[in-house]
Amino acid sequence: MKPRKDLLDIQSLTDEEIEFVLSNAIPFKNLFKRSVKKVPTLRGSTVLTLFYEPSTRTRSSFEIAATRLSADVTNFSVNTSAVVKGESVLDTIATLEAMRTDYIVVRHGSTAIPNLIAKNTTASVINAGDGFHAHPTQALLDAFTLREVFGGDVRGSRIAFVGDIQHSRVARSTNLLCRRMGMSTSMLAPGSLIPRDMPPEIAVFQNWDQLHDWKPDVIYLLRVQMERLNVPFFPSIGEYHSIYGLTDERLKRVRDEGIYVMHPGPVNRGVELTDSVMNYERSLIDQQVENGIAVRMSVLYWLKPGSSIEEAKS
Ligand code: CP
Repeated sequence: MKPRKDLLDIQSLTDEEIEFVLSNAIPFKNLFKRSVKKVPTLRGSTVLTLFYEPSTRTRSSFEIAATRLSADVTNFSVNTSAVVKGESVLDTIATLEAMRTDYIVVRHGSTAIPNLIAKNTTASVINAGDGFHAHPTQALLDAFTLREVFGGDVRGSRIAFVGDIQHSRVARSTNLLCRRMGMSTSMLAPGSLIPRDMPPEIAVFQNWDQLHDWKPDVIYLLRVQMERLNVPFFPSIGEYHSIYGLTDERLKRVRDEGIYVMHPGPVNRGVELTDSVMNYERSLIDQQVENGIAVRMSVLYWLKPGSSIEEAKS
């Protein structure tokens, strides 16, 4: 396997690389049961988190992952940095480059900013979410969780994405990885929240009855991304919840059919789900969060920072 500097999306990964990250996450997860959860793997390395958009799970998960690998972690606080005085992303990166950071974990509202940064730094750049485009570590932790649930082999299993697919980098990355791993995928959402470029082989449903007829093993709920809806994509939140939400009534059928429920977080209670979904015995939401740390440890272990800007640009 060739060394890789950056993790920017799922498309560019080889099957061997995906397998490497997922299989190496297992021993990292086993560490969590020990009283000392730290290993010296990245001692002397520095990891910088650079989030231009809010995050709870991804940022703290990377911080914990890097700390458990004995790396030093710095949070670059965009809101209190010279960014608010108009400093550009590239000028910020030039400054960080001079500080000899080994890994930069970046989230940005614009697609391809992580790619731009990766070409201008020797540090390994990890895309922690860019616009609607990609969230590769979320997809990898979802794949790891699905492999745990289905005994290591997810081929032939069926996963249905429900909610705001149009604005979801998670849906794009996780759907892609699930299909590469041999799962069937489908979607349920208002027509206005289904991307126009959806591959024709992905089933798109109008309602929950059609979704149940497809016999999914997993329902993957997605948050309605209000902050990205500059025009109304559906009449009201109440109407959205009653037609597309996982309500208490729908949860009864989901439970009867033994379907697992996933969600990348943050959840909007009363919109895509109700409180009772959070306590559902086949909800994998907490397992996804825990697995995020192990998978991100594996990603940091796998990537190799570059030696020169020329190499980064090539
Ligand atoms: N899943 C996810 O990206 O969550 P955060 O926005 O809290 O990082």
